[in-house]
Amino acid sequence: MTSYKELGLVNTREMFKKAVDGGYAIPAFNFNTLEQMQAIIQAAVETKSPVIMQVSKGARNYANGTILRYMAQGAVEYAKELGCPNPQIVLHLDHGDTFELCKDCIDNGFSSVMIDGSSLPYEENIALTKKVVEYAHKYDVTVEAELGVLAGVEDEVASEVSHYTKPEEVIDFSTRSGCDSLAISIGTSHGAYKFTPEQCTRDPKTGKLVPPPLAFDILHEIEKKLPGFPIVLHGSSSVPQDEVDTINKYGGKLPDAVGIPEEQLREASKSAVCKINIDSDSRLAMTAAIRKHFVENPGHFDPRQYLKPARENMKKMYIHKIVDVLGSNDKL
Ligand code: G3H
Ligand code: 13P
Ligand code: ZN
Repeated sequence: MTSYKELGLVNTREMFKKAVDGGYAIPAFNFNTLEQMQAIIQAAVETKSPVIMQVSKGARNYANGTILRYMAQGAVEYAKELGCPNPQIVLHLDHGDTFELCKDCIDNGFSSVMIDGSSLPYEENIALTKKVVEYAHKYDVTVEAELGVLAGVEDEVASEVSHYTKPEEVIDFSTRSGCDSLAISIGTSHGAYKFTPEQCTRDPKTGKLVPPPLAFDILHEIEKKLPGFPIVLHGSSSVPQDEVDTINKYGGKLPDAVGIPEEQLREASKSAVCKINIDSDSRLAMTAAIRKHFVENPGHFDPRQYLKPARENMKKMYIHKIVDVLGSNDKL
């Protein structure tokens, strides 16, 4: 058993309370590689922001759970070395799908886990979440649950349809499951294709797709039912058009990729939404920089030559999210 406390990590409890009270959201950035981890920590330290580093089941399979745990420990030490004496860093399991996976993470240094029972029948979701909560709370690990189903298809997180969270269920669900935070479905979805062109309108000036708005009415109803309770938004990448254009210009093919407009995320950050998940925007920033580098430097084959601009591009994106969208800067 390795407690996250030994690694210098924190759970989400205090962090979320401050974020809800302060009207901002904590960035939850997915990571799979050293460069993502470095860019996340550099961005968090430079902006004085708390940060959630999250790892999916796929990331654990890709990078190895033990390595990721030591990377998170390294992240804490790296933040201190960069001049942040008291970094607030959470290591979070994203979309845990079984009790066993959550337990394994809790036993191995994670300070927060998500149990995603959103595709299960309601009572089964409660039962599974409760089981994870009972185990996690023994070790002061916080638990995110999900109610409602996100649309979109991305690797192991897949659902064809979106079922918005039903506000009338949230009190019963959170009370009986004991979860510490709740991911809800209000129209976001995973990946770089959040809406089909048919679901969008086209801006007559630019020809770009304009997605339908998020269901803020549902978010506000949920806030009324659960005052001050931490709410989480998944699938919150904005799919920046300049990154998509760069990828397409340098040999990629991402037609009609579309994300959540940043103004809407800015608005959500001011509400009880206190954790905003961003993965695809990091993938896009990394890929755009690498594609451009390869085309402009066909003779390069040292990974450091193309991973350095990739890391810089991700860092720029993380800082932008923290400062201009979520408002979690200057909180340490
Ligand atoms: O919500 C899903 C995250 O973007 C993680 O994706 O399962 O491909 O690592 P992944
Ligand atoms: P995006 O695909 O919009 O980045 O969402 C990531 C996410 O929700 C991770 O859990
Ligand atoms: Zn997600």
